[in-house]
Amino acid sequence: QTNQSWGGRFSEPTDAFVEKFTASVDFDRRLYHHDIRGSIAHATMLERIGVLSAEERDAIVTGLAEVEREIEAGQFPWSVKLEDVHMNIEARLTEKIGITGKKLHTGRSRNDQVATDIRLYLRDEIDVVDAELARLRSGMIELAANEADTIMPGFTHLQTAQPVTFGHHLLAWQEMLARDHERLRDCRKRVNVMPLGAAALAGTTYPIDRHVTAELLGFERPAENSLDAVSDRDFAIEFVAFASLLAMHLSRMSEELVLWTSAQFDFIDLPDRFCTGSSIMPQKKNPDVPELVRGKSGRVYGHLMSLLTLMKSQPLAYNKDNQEDKEPLFDTLDTVKGCLKAFADMVPAIEAKADNMREAARRGFSTATDLADYLVRKGVAFRDAHEIVGQSVAYGIAQKKDLAEMSLDELRQFSDTIDDDVFEVLTLEGSVAARNHIGGTAPNQVRAAAQRARDALAVL
Ligand code: ARG
Repeated sequence: QTNQSWGGRFSEPTDAFVEKFTASVDFDRRLYHHDIRGSIAHATMLERIGVLSAEERDAIVTGLAEVEREIEAGQFPWSVKLEDVHMNIEARLTEKIGITGKKLHTGRSRNDQVATDIRLYLRDEIDVVDAELARLRSGMIELAANEADTIMPGFTHLQTAQPVTFGHHLLAWQEMLARDHERLRDCRKRVNVMPLGAAALAGTTYPIDRHVTAELLGFERPAENSLDAVSDRDFAIEFVAFASLLAMHLSRMSEELVLWTSAQFDFIDLPDRFCTGSSIMPQKKNPDVPELVRGKSGRVYGHLMSLLTLMKSQPLAYNKDNQEDKEPLFDTLDTVKGCLKAFADMVPAIEAKADNMREAARRGFSTATDLADYLVRKGVAFRDAHEIVGQSVAYGIAQKKDLAEMSLDELRQFSDTIDDDVFEVLTLEGSVAARNHIGGTAPNQVRAAAQRARDALAVL
């Protein structure tokens, strides 16, 4: 005998390999809670429109609650023969409550059921990701506020460029995450639309009330078009696109953390609990967490490509191809939740080695632009000032002296407009303090920016 839920028109059992090949229960069983929630809402609505009696509805609701308890206790008899989570649960319900269980699927198809389940599941998971993102941002903002006065070199081309504050650098990371957060919230709006009621593809002949089910399930509204409702997976692609950008941002932060923990930079310390050692080199302390987060971006991008390709050229409406949407989506969720947790735990524990950062900023002629700006203020044209400072730097390289270490006479070799007020602009503190406008690296601007970031996060 073949699968009982659709075996009526079949004359031979499903090929044993095909049975396994087409089954999804091994991975879609994680939808069980949302499948049951959806079924309870559907049964409730069926009773309200008179398709089920109150007793039938109660039997279904109680039976489903029992099924859920069985699943949670690890006592549910999952069966590959029953193909997927939906039919496993329905079959078990029928075993428990008898013929009434067979009425649950009235006016419904697995096509609208699965689309509803994924949306319910993803909506809850989005809220978990949202909270972790908020926790990470908050930790980053507080660290930034604490490090508002810590001076480090800012880089372009990974060459020392101008001094910045470590707090400013951290708030740059925070901006990336703030955009990700907005994208996530925006994505959630399109997740929160209800396919249920589309049935297989065309809707159903029963006088269903989709507003009732939508309200019971907390959906914003029923999906407008039944064909689109069962075939649309844009919302999953959007989520994975959000996750890809987030993974890209985390990989950039990771790369910097890895660089900064190296002996060559030595800008920060990561607590031992976020690092591991080497089985051969006893001295090693490796920044595994940021390395792994950097590496995990690859699988998330891969899932984005999988889903886009999965949906490409699919004719309306539902196709079995769609069963392939789950593993990429689930793995993306597991991956980003893991990366966010690792980062949210680790970032507040980053220890800045302020002396090393400062020394690196001092060494790299990072205040050269400040000297050029100083000359401009004294009436020199910027291009001429650039040339003068370039010559001073060349002299400094030859003499192994930073600009601030040169005497006034040494500096005046290149321009006699230089006076002894030059030294305050050549200091690292003077340099960062001078960038005193919104979005600039001055410590008081960083503190103000951290406060704005806190406020923005609080009202999100
Ligand atoms: N397991 C299927 C999926 O994940 C459920 C829907 C199956 N519908 C069907 N008509 N075969 O997409």
